[in-house]
Order: sequence, then structure tokens, then C-alpha cells
Amino acid sequence: GPAPLDASKLKITLTQSPKALVPPEQLRFGHTFSDHMIVATYDPVTGWSAPEIKPYAPLTLDPSSSCFQYCTNVFEGMKAYVGPDGKPRLFRPELNMRRLERSVARFALPPLDGDEVLKLIKRFVQIDVRWIPAVPGYSLYLRPTVIGTRAALGVTASDSAMLFVIASPAGPYFPQGLRPISLLAVSDCVRAWPGGTGSDKVGGNYAPGFLPQKIAAKQGYDQVLWLFGEDNRVTEAGVMNFFVIVKREDGDGLDVITAPLDGTILPGITRTSCLSLASSSAFQKENSLRLQTHERVFTMADLAQWSAQGRLVEALSVGTAAIIASVSKIGWKGKDITLPLHEAGLGPVGMALRKKIAAIQEGREEWEGWS
Ligand code: COI
Repeated sequence: GPAPLDASKLKITLTQSPKALVPPEQLRFGHTFSDHMIVATYDPVTGWSAPEIKPYAPLTLDPSSSCFQYCTNVFEGMKAYVGPDGKPRLFRPELNMRRLERSVARFALPPLDGDEVLKLIKRFVQIDVRWIPAVPGYSLYLRPTVIGTRAALGVTASDSAMLFVIASPAGPYFPQGLRPISLLAVSDCVRAWPGGTGSDKVGGNYAPGFLPQKIAAKQGYDQVLWLFGEDNRVTEAGVMNFFVIVKREDGDGLDVITAPLDGTILPGITRTSCLSLASSSAFQKENSLRLQTHERVFTMADLAQWSAQGRLVEALSVGTAAIIASVSKIGWKGKDITLPLHEAGLGPVGMALRKKIAAIQEGREEWEGWS
């Protein structure tokens, strides 16, 4: 049968013209790329080719390729960090690999073994290690991508594919740094729906968000807050998962609430990490917080009520690219729900989570083998 992806067959061709590094303060998210990339191709007869690490370069593809016509594009976002010891680290990469396998399966692309992809990525990061800025808050953003390359217009699953992984040195995702972002709640466009691909990381989830994002920006909001259903359930914010922190009615600390993984929510690695940390008694003790986590449906009416009762203390957008950003206000039906301003940009829960996650990612702290 067709050969599986085999990292032990890796061929490495190093660049003859290494690029100059860009000073960290000049980096804009996703604009600069490292010297190399990973490439492997799948042919329906021979299977996965021997993977290659080679100089970063444009790809040549047939214009009839499935990815251009029918959107057979899936991807991952993950980061490599260097800590004080200078050693590169990945953050929970096996979760990215499992999600990549699911995305590939959802689009009926040729199967690939995420464990083999991860072996390639580790080698790639070692080779391009100089591209990880040795500055706290900076990292090398990795973009594993699988595209359908079947070169024919018949509307059918792509029996050919290409895997590539590129790497981009990255600092803060939002140009304003830690300044809180504003959200415009949108109900006329939806990001995802039951039975759709909202829980997979597929390119096609993103393009439909660009127009609502432009409209939100025109109205002065940074990002869209995606709602779903007649009851205006709160789902995600922009391209990130969304949390609210609410004072409990019984006075016993704070509820940490995010939408459940019902198929319309992207199972973010930062999302699950925030839930684990927030529910850990060690984390709570360390930060003098009393927290209860909830993956549950909540609506715009809930947000408005919590806000009116003075119980809405933080709203957070969380994702790999920005880690954690706090929300200053949410526009809805011509009015704003405003959130308390916190001097440091983030409130107590957002700040504690952000600091802990950064410390684990950069290898300054050990936490359940996450790094
Ligand atoms: C993230 O928040 O990491 C995302 O998934 C956004 C990404 C597409 C840049």
C-alpha cells in the first residue's frame, strides 16, 4: 500500500544564504519567516514521500489543485520557545498533532501520522533555533499545513496532498500589546454551526470571518464576538476562544466560564490549559484565587445580567498566537457592556494565567510535562 509518513527518511538541505535576523521590536506577527521549511508530498500510489527540510521558498502547484478550488486546507498553530537555559521547547505539541490528524480526516485528505510530523518539527526547530528570539514574550510560531493537491476539477476528496511547515519569529499578536481589546457581538454572520467544521482547524473557517471583522473595525471595535442561535450564545472571539470571569452569587470566589466543546468551538490548546490551571488548587493557592471552572452555554443576556449586577470582572480572549488578551467592552445592540479596567492591562485571573502559561512555555517552570 501507499507509504506512511516516515520521519526517519528525512532529507536535509541547508540554505547556502542564511537570512539576516529581524530585531524583535520590528517583528509583526507572521511577516518574517525562518531559513527553512519542512515539505512532504503524498501520491495515491506511492504514499508519503521522504520528508525534506530545505530552504524556505515558494511552492509550485497546478492551478486546478483541490486546495485552490475546494478549500482542502488545514493547519495548526504552535510555538517554540527558548528559556533561560537556551534550550528550545514546544508547548503541548502532541495536542496540535492530534488536532491536525482530526482536521485532515474531516477533509478526507490522505491520512498522516502526527507523531511523525512532530519528529520532523523537532528537527526543524533545532535547525532554525537561531530564529527563536531570546526575549521573554517572543517565540517561533510554527504553521504546519496540509493541502489537497489533486490536480483535477472533479468535486471529490483529494487523493494527493502536501504537508509543509513554516516558521515565523513572533512577538505580541495584537499590535497594541497588553492593551485590552474591544469586541462587537455579531449575530447575523455565524462562525460555526452544529455538524460544521468549527471544531476543526481548517482554512475555510477563517475566510468568512474577514468581512464581519472589517465591519467591526469600521465601527471602532478590534474583533468580533461570535454568537450562535436564537438565544445568542457566546461562542468565540475573533480567532480565539473566549472566557468570562464572574463573581459567584454565593460569594465563594469566581466562576471561570467558557463555551463547551459541542462541535462549534475550536478545542484550543490555550483554552484547555487555562481550564486545567484555573481548576488546579496549586495554581489557585499560588495566586490567592478561589476559582470554579465551567464549560457551559452562556448567552448575551447572561453577560448583560452579570454586568448589570456588577459581577462581570474579566472577559478574556485566549489562543496560541496572543496567549491571553483581556476585553475592555462588548458592543451589542447599539450599546456597550463595559468591563472593569485593570491597571496592568489584565485582571487578576487573566494575569495569573498568562504569567503561569508563559513561565511553563519558556521552561522557567515545570507543569505536568507540558513543555
Ligand atoms: C490563535 O489564536 O493562535 C489562532 O488560532 C489565530 C491564528 C490563526 C493566528
